[in-house]
Amino acid sequence: MSRLPVETKLDSTLALARDPYRFISSRCEKLNSDAFETRLLLQKVICIRGEEATKVFYDTSHFSRVGVAPSRIAKTLFGRGGVQGMDGKAHRHRKMMFLSLLTEDKIGGLTQLARDIWKRRVLQWSRMDQVVLYRQAQEVLTEAVCQWAGVPLDPADVDRRTSELAALFDYAGNVGPKHWWAKLARKRNELWLRGIVEQIRSRTYDPPEDTATFIVANHRDLDGNLLDPQSAAVELNNILRPTVAVSAYIVQCAHALHEHPTTRETLANGSADDLWCFVQEVRRFYPFFPFAGAKVKESFEWQGYPFPSGRKVLLDLYGTNHDPRIWNRPDEFDPERFREWDGNPFTLIPQGGGDHHENHRCPGEWIAIEQMKVAVDMLVNHCQYEVPEQELQIDMDRLPAIPKNQFIIEGVRVAQTASGAPTDGQETNE
Ligand code: HEM
Repeated sequence: MSRLPVETKLDSTLALARDPYRFISSRCEKLNSDAFETRLLLQKVICIRGEEATKVFYDTSHFSRVGVAPSRIAKTLFGRGGVQGMDGKAHRHRKMMFLSLLTEDKIGGLTQLARDIWKRRVLQWSRMDQVVLYRQAQEVLTEAVCQWAGVPLDPADVDRRTSELAALFDYAGNVGPKHWWAKLARKRNELWLRGIVEQIRSRTYDPPEDTATFIVANHRDLDGNLLDPQSAAVELNNILRPTVAVSAYIVQCAHALHEHPTTRETLANGSADDLWCFVQEVRRFYPFFPFAGAKVKESFEWQGYPFPSGRKVLLDLYGTNHDPRIWNRPDEFDPERFREWDGNPFTLIPQGGGDHHENHRCPGEWIAIEQMKVAVDMLVNHCQYEVPEQELQIDMDRLPAIPKNQFIIEGVRVAQTASGAPTDGQETNE
């Protein structure tokens, strides 16, 4: 067995915080290795990247997720008692609950709701000077996912609930006041969702049986027990929060459309396949989660290196999506690369890799893809707008990474069809 290459700094916590997306791959390049050891918060951690690394990371016989999330992430992004921190049979059983909610049919319902809300919004924007796309997308997604999931949401509460949900992913990585706000937002959000679970159980609220609220409130663990209300609230949040987080991908789509005007033309006259290739390339090219974490169950050896029991391991998601051994000219935005893509589950990993049922790969990939497609269709085919002078560079220190101004658009016009009617006939009545 060889010794793992070591990042020589005493502790790399600051270096990682300064450059979260490129930290692992830049060291892998320097050390000429797909694995190296470093210290984060003074603890030894192994960092890995690439296709082979993804295969081993998603082999559940080697890795555990119990107690892996750092406490500041558990208190904001994830909450406690959710699927992310489970292993083995219990994890598979809980994961089935998510996957049963996310069938093609059900996702189609969410897509239709979101499309209708986008159309109303576009009309509102046409009466406004400027629009911050990130916030607008968050509100659309909050409204759509709450309605779809059977979470009652008064129109007067959309603003407040959107801010709470967005704080959980926007500020999870921050320190100081933003982090405190994210902690408070989680408390408020869980209190709200716990109340809904309790109302369903006491039959004072009766949502349809195929909604997420009903399914989560009535889900039973492997011993036949209902989830405690706190864990049920965390799992409901696990559906609402990441759906609202697709807003970052939507801003990245708008950014790509702006940076590559010919792509916009292709999409305007294009096929469903063109749209799919574009969305996949946004997911590959743009930074979202930098890495995923796990810990070694029992000591094993990989590529001749020791992985000792209990050691934390980080898989480089962004670096693998930009690995030149997998992707030709990885730093170029080129949707065409997906035209002939083989669908390898270990190479395109913005939302994790491997098998959705067996391991921790994100069950929300299809929602993310469909919501991105709806938003791109809106931006390309249902409205016209200008992008005023602003800081358009992707802020790589921010998690998730979007431009500093959160993408401002102005002069929005509802697109007209060849006959002169708005693209949605209903809009004329509003
Ligand atoms: C905004 C786009 C999204 C991104 C970038 C994203 C990314 C990820 C990543 C990186 C993981 C962890 C993979 C791992 O630990 O190995 C994950 C897990 C998860 N995601 Fe997503 N996700 C997104 C959208 C969604 C949506 C829309 C949903 C639900 C409707 C969702 C629900 C979940 C859940 C429940 C898990 C935990 C799965 C498990 O531990 O088995 N995500 N996601």
